[in-house]
Amino acid sequence: MRKTVLDIQQMKAHGERIPMLTAYDYPIAKLLDQAGIPMLLVGDSVGNNVLGYSSTIPVTLDDIVRHTTAVVRGAQSALIVADLPFLSYATLEMAVAGARRLMQEGGAQAVKLEGGASMAPIVQRLVECGVPVMGHLGYTPQSEHVFGKARVQGRKAAVARKMIEDALALEAAGVFAVVLELVPAPLAGAISRRLRIPTIGIGAGTDCDGQVLIIHDVLGLNPDFMPRLAKRFVDLGSIIREAATSYINEVTSRAFPAEQHSSTMDEAMLREALEGLE
Ligand code: KIV
Repeated sequence: MRKTVLDIQQMKAHGERIPMLTAYDYPIAKLLDQAGIPMLLVGDSVGNNVLGYSSTIPVTLDDIVRHTTAVVRGAQSALIVADLPFLSYATLEMAVAGARRLMQEGGAQAVKLEGGASMAPIVQRLVECGVPVMGHLGYTPQSEHVFGKARVQGRKAAVARKMIEDALALEAAGVFAVVLELVPAPLAGAISRRLRIPTIGIGAGTDCDGQVLIIHDVLGLNPDFMPRLAKRFVDLGSIIREAATSYINEVTSRAFPAEQHSSTMDEAMLREALEGLE
């Protein structure tokens, strides 16, 4: 049975922490689902982590739909949240059309969008239409050109106060949960205690109701960059490099493929096939 947004909210109500990871493809989604992850995010971070872009800005709705279909096929139990990418929800009509694609074509059970109180009318409309929405506050990567660079948001009282108001406005508009990215731990804790809905932190300290990380950071698949907010749980990058080196060595030295990797054929059949050929 697939998890629902109510299951995720129950986890907060029962004091259970909520682990979440990003996933962008079928095999990884399947493995994470088998491990028991309750919620997966098909994030627009697919841009940086899979497509080789330097930001999430170039990611399109088509990209997210394609990756969502793969993740949904791979994960049977996890709730799948898909990101509405940059400028795909600038108007109510666009937001509804985008959510339709992510849910009907992609198969997601919820969508995520970035922004505070100004997004409340969009959230409200989506929720009225039956679309579960996750919010995203703090550092919001789609606004990287406004922020200048990725940095902690809310250290100053006025910005912190605005973030608390944004979180309450999103909750009132109907989001089922909210991501807090790059937020000082005490502020994230204060927001988490004020909201009924779960907060999902990333670089937001220990007091959020849940935690999300980029799967490539967790698995060590980002050889060039490791954000301070993340933790590498395994160094698959090194393992993959070693495996590739062994493969290259075995192919060039003719150690692979060996007899057990080959299939045989009746000699007479081969002779017949070659008959008359030079
Ligand atoms: O796109 C993404 O992966 C995200 C997470 C950082 C929460 O939005």
